[in-house]
Amino acid sequence: ASKRIPLVAGNWKMNFDHLEATYFVQKLAWLLRDAHFDFRRVEVALFPSFTSLRSVQVLVEADKLKINYGAQSVSVTNQGAFTGDISADMIAHLGCSYVIIGHSERRKYHPEDDANIVDQVRAVLAAGMQPILCVGESFEERRQGIELDFAVGQVHDVTRDLNEEEAAKLIIAYEPVWAIGTGMVATPESAQDAAQAIRADMKATFGADVADAVRILYGGSVTSKNAVELIEEPDVDGFLIGGASLDADELARICRLT
Ligand code: G3P
Repeated sequence: ASKRIPLVAGNWKMNFDHLEATYFVQKLAWLLRDAHFDFRRVEVALFPSFTSLRSVQVLVEADKLKINYGAQSVSVTNQGAFTGDISADMIAHLGCSYVIIGHSERRKYHPEDDANIVDQVRAVLAAGMQPILCVGESFEERRQGIELDFAVGQVHDVTRDLNEEEAAKLIIAYEPVWAIGTGMVATPESAQDAAQAIRADMKATFGADVADAVRILYGGSVTSKNAVELIEEPDVDGFLIGGASLDADELARICRLT
């Protein structure tokens, strides 16, 4: 990676109840307990379901674990008559550091468009957390050879409404849709090309300081088999991991390789 501290983020999606989540966090902490793993050198974060966040918080605080955690989405409104929604403040009060925003599954199954995604980003920032903004092309855009423009455009659609201070708190996850859950991982070169293009666009908008500070993750079929060559790329600052993050042994291996 780079001078930035890499982030290994496990997106559990709709998996694990609070008991399974508790067991998993204990196991992962135990697997990473030795002196060979340094949580200051590689940051580890988990993204459980809303229903598990309180259990994870209690465990992390009681055992003083160095594992961070966050939510998988957030409401754009802060309180009131919005049945079924969860506000950024509620999430922040559970000790969350991050919220994943605009994951392709949310864009597909929920009406999350650019305007809604910008509002989520603002809500998360206002609550003192960091957004992990997901972008990435589908197979069709890649076939047309417009994948870089597409991913950069998705980032730009959000960042054009942010000021420099807000943009500096973003984390970007480049997740090509065709690579998610398919076993078809992007090549290190194409992950690097996308991360580099996104960073260049941020530099053009906000300057080198912001662009150099923002972490850009790769997501899509990351495993312990492909993590090493991906993280060697200069603009890839970690991973957003789905399937492989459901196995504590595998996730611990990826943390060690990062
Ligand atoms: O957010 C992570 C994700 O969408 C990638 O999933 O299962 O391909 O690692 P997976």
